[in-house]
This record gives sequence, C-alpha cells and structure tokens, in this order.
Amino acid sequence: MPSNHSIKIRHPTFDFDKEIPRYWFNDNPVITHNFNGYNLLFPEFERFFVRSVMHYKNQITDETLLEQIKGFTGQESKHAQAHEDYFQVLERQGYKITRFLRWYKNYASFVERMATPKLRLALTAAAEHYTASIAGIVLSHPELLENVNPTMRKLVVWHSAEEIEHRSVAFDVMQAVGIGNSTRIVAFLMTSLDMLLWSTLSTVMLLWQDRISPWRSFKYKRQYGKKFKGINKRMRQLLLAYFRKDFHPSDVDFLEDAHKYLKQVGIDE
Ligand SMILES: [Fe+2]
Ligand SMILES: [Fe+2]
Repeated sequence: MPSNHSIKIRHPTFDFDKEIPRYWFNDNPVITHNFNGYNLLFPEFERFFVRSVMHYKNQITDETLLEQIKGFTGQESKHAQAHEDYFQVLERQGYKITRFLRWYKNYASFVERMATPKLRLALTAAAEHYTASIAGIVLSHPELLENVNPTMRKLVVWHSAEEIEHRSVAFDVMQAVGIGNSTRIVAFLMTSLDMLLWSTLSTVMLLWQDRISPWRSFKYKRQYGKKFKGINKRMRQLLLAYFRKDFHPSDVDFLEDAHKYLKQVGIDE
C-alpha cells in the first residue's frame, strides 16, 4: 500500500564557508571519511534516481503518488546540490577529489546506458532502501550525533529526515508499473555490491590522502564499533528486510524521529 503523507521540499542553508574540522564525526577519521565518501557519490546518484523515476511519471495515475514524485524529485535535487556545495570544504582541507569524481561519473553513466529503464528504477528503489536504512539508524540513535560539528549535523539530519520522508516513492512507482520481485531482488544485490565498492573506494581514497594506515583505520573502526554497540546488527536487520516478499519501505516507521530532528536543528518550525 502506498503511504500517503506529503513530501515537503525545504530550502536549508549550510555554513560551508565556516571552518569545519577535518574529522567532524566524533573526531574519528574512518567514520568521517565514510560520510565524506558518500558525500562524493550523492550528487551523481541522486540525479540518477530522479531521472529513473521521472521516466515512468507519465504512467502513474494515482494523484497522491504523483504529488509524492514531485516532492521526491525536489528533495533529491536539493540534496545533490548541497552535497556538491560541500565539495568546496573537502578541497579547502586539501583533498584531491576531481579524478575520483571523474571515474565515478564515467562508471555511473556506463551503468545508466547499459541498464533498461525497469532495472534503473529497481536500482533506485534498492538504493533508496539503503539511504532510508542509514537514515533510520542515524535518527534513532541520538548519541551518534552528539559529537558532530553543527553544520555537518544539520546536513546529516536534513538529508536523513528527507530520505525517511520519501523512502517509499521509487518503490511505489516500481510496483505501480508492474516490476516484479525477481528484478527487485537482483537490483538490490547489484546495489549492495555497488555501494560496497564505491563507499570503500571513496573512504580509502580519503584516508590514503591523510596517510592513515590500514592498521590505524582498523583501530578507529573498532573504537566506533565499541562506542556504538548494536548499530551494525540493527543495520543488517533493516537492510535484509528487503528480501521479504511482502516488504514495503514504510514498514519501519522513523517519520516521527525525522520530524523531531528537523525542528531540533532549526529547519522546521
Ligand atoms: Fe537524498
Ligand atoms: Fe532518496
């Protein structure tokens, strides 16, 4: 069943001109660069999501879903822009990101050219399940955001909350145009490999530029694991739910947390 809440397009601003600490997440380089790595990937793949969903817009007759598509495309376009704006912070901190971005762009356009519209939509729905699961974890564990730079906290909260708000849109479009379970599952497996590959490459690329050895990275990752126990297990549970035949993104509801946080960081009133 499609969910029927409205999806609002917000216009927050971020102080990327101000000093942002190099390791803005709990002073932990590995987790900071994991987020920074996603930051590098977001603009390219969020624009891909918008194109994949828009391809099917004319086949949708449900008025609520059409409204939600408008909200979804508006939110994703804003996210892509904000994450692109964040590149200036990484460049100011001395990171060389241009070559990596070019490789990723070439890879993403190759995938887009090779995949059928159906597969592109199923890949989008699967990736939206990933972003909503990450967002759900972030918003349901307030301790995660305690020692985070305020500008970055605002960016993470805003993006996470909106990922929760629009988490069902691509999925509902996929169901409305009759894409079946097998394509959905194949796309989820492809997305998992893709996320693992590119988030690892982007994180390692940034850690390498800081000359942080694999051993030290391992220690930082373990430190995080000890501090935030149980989060990885919860994440696995959320992600694996996608394999259920009767899965729907709105099964796990983080909407209340999302709206509470948006008020807390001053984006919503
Ligand atoms: Fe997004
Ligand atoms: Fe999204």
